Amino acid sequence: MILVTGATGKVGSEAVRLLRQRGMAVRALVRDPAKAAALVEAGAELAVGNLDTPQTLDAAMAGVTTVVLVSPGVPTQELNVIHSAVRSGAEHVVKITSNASADSPIARRRWQTEIEAGLIASGLHYTLLRNNAYMQNLLALAPAVMKTGSFSSSTGVGRLGMIDARDVGAVAAEIAVSPAAHAGKTYWPTGPELLSYADVAAVLSQVLGRPITYRELSPEEDQAAMIRAGLPEPVAEMNAQAFALVAAGDAAWVTQDVPTLLGRPARSFEQFATDYTAVFA
Ligand SMILES: NC(=O)c1ccc[n+]([C@@H]2O[C@H](COP(=O)([O-])OP(=O)(O)OC[C@H]3O[C@@H](n4cnc5c(N)ncnc54)[C@H](OP(=O)(O)O)[C@@H]3O)[C@@H](O)[C@H]2O)c1
Repeated sequence: MILVTGATGKVGSEAVRLLRQRGMAVRALVRDPAKAAALVEAGAELAVGNLDTPQTLDAAMAGVTTVVLVSPGVPTQELNVIHSAVRSGAEHVVKITSNASADSPIARRRWQTEIEAGLIASGLHYTLLRNNAYMQNLLALAPAVMKTGSFSSSTGVGRLGMIDARDVGAVAAEIAVSPAAHAGKTYWPTGPELLSYADVAAVLSQVLGRPITYRELSPEEDQAAMIRAGLPEPVAEMNAQAFALVAAGDAAWVTQDVPTLLGRPARSFEQFATDYTAVFA
């Protein structure tokens, strides 16, 4: 049995769908069963639980050999899952993480390092997926694209090896099917190419068939705009810090991990924009 946490999210939902497509027994951890219709439709078992409540995790863990661990990445919550996996005799955790480091200026990257260290120390077999930025982050800009034909950000001219979160789900599913071959390994999944936000605007213009422009903001302007758009202040601050790093080249890396692991190319941004045209148009 494979347990997928964050199963209603971008990565978890795709991992569940693909694992079920391959006939694997999957249990999806959800905190709100009302959001689980697609998971049930795909044939997953549901476990209703919360990452803050270890008893619910222990119940979800019964008979589980492999865990796909994806969540917003709060250390106490993910360590709850890891400790529950140890108690329950699970063998392997596929952990979704980012380009994390203990000395990162961004709190959520330091948190990921703390979780990774807890997983490694747990004695469980593990695989780390240190993903580049998700293309789906750009969906937050879709309302501006739709209304004004332009979007703004503080990523400057920095380029990103951005990945479609569906491909992260596909990589996680692939590893969960045969985890032993990936034990102790760290992968760095990316999309197929490096793109700046100006490149993103050019692809959107082509796919949507009308000119879309990119306007550069300072980190302070961007943080204020994200707060105005409704993001909690700490999240807006971490995003602005991440965008400043992107502007300085921090996300300008591409690997062959997705094609190597999946035997097919990673989805391009053009493919992503085509699939999500309705959201941008
Ligand atoms: N965004 C990026 O560019 C990027 C890049 C690299 C790595 N990552 C990593 O990707 C991960 C996020 O993945 P994602 O984008 O798939 O997340 P997501 O779409 O935001 O989904 C988060 C999932 O966690 C669930 N969840 C949240 N709090 C919970 C709780 N207390 N108990 C049970 N479930 C809970 C949510 O359930 P509900 O539906 O009920 O809310 C949802 O299913 C993070 O570890 C992040 O560091 C992100």
